[in-house]
Amino acid sequence: MKKYFALLLVLAMVLSLAACGGGDKPASPDTPDDVDAAATAFTTVEEGKLHMSTNAEFPPYEMTTDAGGFEGIDVEVADAIAKKLGLELVVDDMGFDAALTAVQTGQSDIAMAGITITDERKEVMDFSDSYATGIQVVIVKEDSSIQTVDDLANAEMIGTQKATTGYIYCSDTPENGGYGEDHVTAFDTGALAVMALVNGQVDAVVIDNEPAKAFMAQNPGLKILDTEFAVEDYAIGFAKGNTALLEAVNTAMAELKADGTFQDIVDKYITAE
Ligand code: ARG
Repeated sequence: MKKYFALLLVLAMVLSLAACGGGDKPASPDTPDDVDAAATAFTTVEEGKLHMSTNAEFPPYEMTTDAGGFEGIDVEVADAIAKKLGLELVVDDMGFDAALTAVQTGQSDIAMAGITITDERKEVMDFSDSYATGIQVVIVKEDSSIQTVDDLANAEMIGTQKATTGYIYCSDTPENGGYGEDHVTAFDTGALAVMALVNGQVDAVVIDNEPAKAFMAQNPGLKILDTEFAVEDYAIGFAKGNTALLEAVNTAMAELKADGTFQDIVDKYITAE
């Protein structure tokens, strides 16, 4: 009896391993490369292209260059993933909320925009493995009376970027840990929220830590509070059920992490403290 169980256990392990590696598509025995095998199993919005919807207002993950192109961690990682899949990356820049909707409605193949995985978003889109940690921080003026996250409750007005987790958390009801919609303004971009802080229209800005650092560098007289508002995981978004592409992207990303490419890209944009 014991032996029988051990055998069953081994069988179950082998089966689940197989499921992890190949997903539900039949892996062709003569294509040893996982990515190639997966690449044949999905279609993209435009043949030969990988359309990435994003909001290029989020340094150092995605931003525009002076020459009118795009750069940043997400842009370069997506480009490396596209190459692995034999595709050419096309960056579709739009509002953050539009970037999320575009992938859900099949107008883009992936949404990559420092997107936080949340339960609500999981209901309308699928996510890759997480590739980074994001921290929601609070920016205030150096002489602000808001000195800790708890002091945010006293803020007359908090600035956030529209449709971001910063907005979602802050505009929630006090019972749910928020401050109520009346105390939160949603700006089209994080930079505009920070500008409103500089101009005294809002008392604090809640935003992801890396863009916060970038905006701070451009606006003297601001500081980031030591206490963190929330810690989150970033992932690439897909249309619900686009499993073949999601698995191919996960495999490509794992390879980029294993061979150091991913870290090289991160190091280019974020200097270790
Ligand atoms: N991490 C936050 C979120 O998912 C903000 C992301 C904003 N990204 C952007 N490219 N503007 O809501």
